[in-house]
Amino acid sequence: MSALLDIDAAESGYGGGRVLNGVSLRIREGEILALIGRNGVGKTTLLRTLIGLVPLAAGSIRLDGREVGHDKPYARARQGIGYVPQGREIFGALTVAENLQAGAQANRGRAAAMRDKVTGYFPVLKAKLQHKAGTMSGGEQQQLAIARALIGAPKILLLDEPSEGIQPSIVGLIGETLLKIARETGVGVLLVEQDMGMVESMATRCCVMDKGRIVDTLTRGQLADEALIRQHLAL
Ligand SMILES: Nc1ncnc2c1ncn2[C@@H]1O[C@H](COP(=O)(O)OP(=O)(O)O)[C@@H](O)[C@H]1O
Ligand SMILES: [Mg+2]
Repeated sequence: MSALLDIDAAESGYGGGRVLNGVSLRIREGEILALIGRNGVGKTTLLRTLIGLVPLAAGSIRLDGREVGHDKPYARARQGIGYVPQGREIFGALTVAENLQAGAQANRGRAAAMRDKVTGYFPVLKAKLQHKAGTMSGGEQQQLAIARALIGAPKILLLDEPSEGIQPSIVGLIGETLLKIARETGVGVLLVEQDMGMVESMATRCCVMDKGRIVDTLTRGQLADEALIRQHLAL
């Protein structure tokens, strides 16, 4: 089966400086690929390059066989790249329903059908549709950020450290829900994450990034090797 997302030798950075030095990755339908690495190695920059907020300087990004590496961010969203940013960036002054509406702009045709589906996956949101998002807990806001990305019916979902600042029981719940979503909808997931428990319970494979390159790919078995993980994360 061909890859849903095929990143080949991607380079990008800020100003004149390169942060990504040739990243190649492939994600298949329904696959959850984890990406780990120390702070500052370029994980967030990779995600921002994939959605078009950081320009691709060299290499290619193919979604479902089509080159999208130089398309505008809104066009990539419409093509099927969903993004859950680090720190969530939900609209705190807007209601849950209004936040979901904002996400629906990526794909108005399919959003109506997706609305019931995503609130089905995250029942806490269904119960709080008219609540201001800023009044909710961190875990609820993270679920909203994921639902807001999913409502556009993406082919690929990019998640930047979804466990950050969230209590462990809710991290577990979010992980289980994401697994179910990948299995049932076939969405491919790129999970940037420091929480190795979440990575172990979710990922089919795990890539390790250092200095803007993928330096290793770990199997599920290797994820249990604490010494190896500690070395890669330099904890
Ligand atoms: N907006 C920016 N402008 C300039 N440099 C940046 C910007 N964002 C990140 N960087 C730099 O790019 C490098 C990679 O950062 P980042 O992708 O955020 O790493 P990670 O997500 O792996 O912690 C770091 O050296 C960081 O200082
Ligand atoms: Mg980051």
